[in-house]
Amino acid sequence: MTLSEPIWLHVCDVDAIPRLGTRVLRHASGDIALFRTESDNVFALRDQCPHKGGALSQGIVHGEKVTCPLHAWNIDLTTGEACAPDVGCAQRFPVRIDAGEVYLSLDEAVQATAAA
Ligand code: FES
Repeated sequence: MTLSEPIWLHVCDVDAIPRLGTRVLRHASGDIALFRTESDNVFALRDQCPHKGGALSQGIVHGEKVTCPLHAWNIDLTTGEACAPDVGCAQRFPVRIDAGEVYLSLDEAVQATAAA
């Protein structure tokens, strides 16, 4: 392993995340929301809306987006970017699914914690 390779943390079985739902991972750097789409893709974003900090894990998952519960901004799960006309970005974390198990790369979260 080289220093540039991501460190993958096993989080849970894919089925532990409800389809079109979320699961929250508590982390020292802040909560991370895992979203499962109808087609069983899994995405991870900081559980904080780029608008005014609403909990994205409380939002509605549709397609590859989540609608924030506070003011209905739509956030693209693949990028963390707010959909136009809104502007902003929730921190995104790489996710890997292997044999039905979800792994998360927390390198950025660890760096954020170390920098805090
Ligand atoms: S806090 Fe999410 S849309 Fe306002």
